[in-house]
Amino acid sequence: MAKKQILVSMVFAFLVLVSSSSKSHEEEEADRISALPGQPNVSFQQFSGYVTVNKIAGRALFYWLTEASINPLSKPLVIWLNGGPGCSSVAYGASEEIGPFRINKTASGLYLNKFSWNTVSNLLFLETPAGVGNAVTDNYYDNLGTVTYWWSHAMISDKTYQQLINTCDFRRQKESNECESLYSYAMDQEFGNIDQYNIYAPPCNNSDGSRFTRQTMRLPHRPHRIFRQMAGYDPCTEKYAEIYYNRPDVQKALHANTTGIRYKWTACSEVLNRNWNDTDVSVLPIYREMIAGGLRVWVFSGDVDSVVPVTATRYSLAQLKLTTKIPWYPCSDLICP
Ligand SMILES: *[C@@H]1O[C@H](CO)[C@@H](O)[C@H](O)[C@H]1NC(C)=O
Ligand SMILES: *[C@@H]1O[C@H](CO)[C@@H](O)[C@H](O)[C@H]1NC(C)=O
Ligand SMILES: *[C@@H]1O[C@H](CO)[C@@H](O)[C@H](O)[C@H]1NC(C)=O
Ligand SMILES: *[C@@H]1O[C@H](CO)[C@@H](O)[C@H](O)[C@H]1NC(C)=O
Ligand SMILES: *[C@@H]1O[C@H](CO)[C@@H](O)[C@H](O)[C@H]1NC(C)=O
Repeated sequence: MAKKQILVSMVFAFLVLVSSSSKSHEEEEADRISALPGQPNVSFQQFSGYVTVNKIAGRALFYWLTEASINPLSKPLVIWLNGGPGCSSVAYGASEEIGPFRINKTASGLYLNKFSWNTVSNLLFLETPAGVGNAVTDNYYDNLGTVTYWWSHAMISDKTYQQLINTCDFRRQKESNECESLYSYAMDQEFGNIDQYNIYAPPCNNSDGSRFTRQTMRLPHRPHRIFRQMAGYDPCTEKYAEIYYNRPDVQKALHANTTGIRYKWTACSEVLNRNWNDTDVSVLPIYREMIAGGLRVWVFSGDVDSVVPVTATRYSLAQLKLTTKIPWYPCSDLICP
């Protein structure tokens, strides 16, 4: 559940039809992954490498395509973009959310994710094209929904909740010091040692404890705080990812880092996260446009994630004031959606 929720809220996933590729057959073959180090045998094909966006500026986007395991040509294509801003679709989307492989604890091999979405579709993980931001649906309603989730899930006291509601603006990117210290109090004194992406799971026991992580980046009100935190079923996945994807043999197999970048690969880019300051405060106008254009939009939240909580999604979607066609109904594998 947590996993799914993280995904959709921090990600924009689009179903698109596969149109003509701009890569030639040779380029396609050059991008084919024969096997990743420590990978189990699989029946589907995979490709990865760079797509040049602007040759003169030296800009290229890294992608990893994992085809559907059965009849890929008849399956849709999901494009997966993780947010942050600045977090990697390979680190999160592919390796701990919907992709076919999980990285094992020693980062020496991969194992199959039995919940991989590539059983039903082709998956294209694309690294941070310009404009991919954070998980915000709407700044105000997301922040309100987040503290309400904390309160409704007994993570914070009534008093702290009331103080947050009374003190914080929720519309601003940068909150007042008073509000910031209430957030700190809630997290440090009241939350306890939990994984914020799955409040019923313990966090990764990161003995160095000081790394900049997605957790930090996902909280718009406190973007630079160092907070020891990880996500997913194995909350330490991003740690394994940073070992595995920095291995020269893995990079070679993925056709990555072909120019010998001087710094190490990280699951999130702190530089990008800190410096991107023109992010939109709400994507609701975009939803309105998409809906007006006849597109169906699926907004999904799980129920155990306190970072992109279901309450925030509900408050935000309510602002669209859409007409209900089908009333609320229970969702199961058989009848959903
Ligand atoms: C994987 O495939 C190779 C080549 O077909 C085969 O030799 C090997 O036994 C297979 N390994 C497993 C675990 O199925
Ligand atoms: C990780 O995968 C490698 C390669 O398949 C294997 O040798 C190793 O035992 C695995 N380690 C763990 C902890 O699963
Ligand atoms: C975290 O790991 C360290 C070192 O392995 C250990 O001493 C400590 O007890 C662990 N903490 C928790 C909360 O598991
Ligand atoms: C790229 O490869 C070089 C070695 O050629 C390595 O030192 C560097 O850490 C890698 N950078 C990234 C971003 O993967
Ligand atoms: C973003 O930050 C840069 C550098 O600090 C600054 O020049 C720019 O005006 C800022 N943009 C916005 C929209 O605040």
